[in-house]
Amino acid sequence: MQSYPIQIGYLGVGRYLPPNILTNAHLERMVETSDEWIVQRTGIHERRIMGEGESVLSMATAAAREALDRAGISANQITDVRVGVNTHLRWPSLATMVQNELGIDDGTASDISAGCSAYIFCVDSIYQKMMTEWLLEGKKSYALAIGVDGLSLITDWTDRQTCVLFGDGAGAAVIGPVESGGILATTTRAQGKYGDLLYLTPYIKPSLDDPEKMTFHTRTGTIEPLIYMEGRKVFPVAVRSMMAEIKTVIEKHNRISGESLTLDDIEYVIPHQANHRIVSAVAEGLKLPLEQVYSEGVVKYGNNSAASIPIGYVENIGKRPGALEVDVAFGAGFASGAILRRNPS
Ligand code: ACO
Repeated sequence: MQSYPIQIGYLGVGRYLPPNILTNAHLERMVETSDEWIVQRTGIHERRIMGEGESVLSMATAAAREALDRAGISANQITDVRVGVNTHLRWPSLATMVQNELGIDDGTASDISAGCSAYIFCVDSIYQKMMTEWLLEGKKSYALAIGVDGLSLITDWTDRQTCVLFGDGAGAAVIGPVESGGILATTTRAQGKYGDLLYLTPYIKPSLDDPEKMTFHTRTGTIEPLIYMEGRKVFPVAVRSMMAEIKTVIEKHNRISGESLTLDDIEYVIPHQANHRIVSAVAEGLKLPLEQVYSEGVVKYGNNSAASIPIGYVENIGKRPGALEVDVAFGAGFASGAILRRNPS
């Protein structure tokens, strides 16, 4: 097995899911749909929705606290907080607000918006930075990568094509030097040309050649942002992109390390829980049995966007010591990415 001069990986993971459950039966009373249709097309049975007192900030902070506890790291040892989020529609950044909630006095913090792949983008940027600082400055540090979304805030509850898909939640990981296992490679990509297939209404529609239209949107502040998605067109690109990202991250690792890993060496995949059919199609395309692909999250929690991968980590704690695993995501933008990791032995 190839070994890097330094090893960076996960020291602890955590998550937060609101206790409030929205079942398919509830949705049947809200829009013209059925439990049978939702389960057959998406695999989703229920999802969590934020209630009173809950917010993207409270969820992100709770997930971060759980990750810090599991890592045995105090908040003040964290010098970088990165939050992948698409539903923090205000200033300052959510990462700085989490930093404040956790009582972190110094360091850096920022948000990343990259659709449902935002958590992967956070890990990618933390990993690249830590590698550079360690190799060039001999500096070792700890960071928090958080994926959180409150999609219920921007869901059009009258649109049956989208409202059945989404749920709220947060997941987090403490990243730092590890004794065994760790991150082997990361990759990210974006395909802006597909922007009009999945977007939040006020942000994409204003025309750049029509300043009045932009002004109208910003001044009134009365237009509620709502998700628009052309599901049928999104589906095949999502499947193709996730398959491609898995191959890309393995190839990248092989280039760096001189190893010759193939898909056969991957023991488990944690894909973004977009919906069960997408997850199954990726598994089928890669000729991986479904038992080697995390698919339980979407059944219980729906599509949690940036949070779904770190939420999945918590259900896999301690499983498959020493195994090679890939996390892969795809979302609006169409931003996609993957992480190749080895579990601690
Ligand atoms: N209940 C009942 N009927 C419905 C519902 C519903 N909730 N939604 C749509 N229908 C109807 C449609 O109106 C249509 O009826 P028609 O044939 O009479 O016109 C029929 O069901 C089929 O609709 P489609 O939209 O073609 O259904 P499809 O099989 O494509 O499934 C779905 C829809 C589940 C959204 C699918 O396209 C999909 O999974 N797309 C990927 C979307 C996704 O997961 N995006 C997330 C990735 S990015 C991110 O995570 C943000």
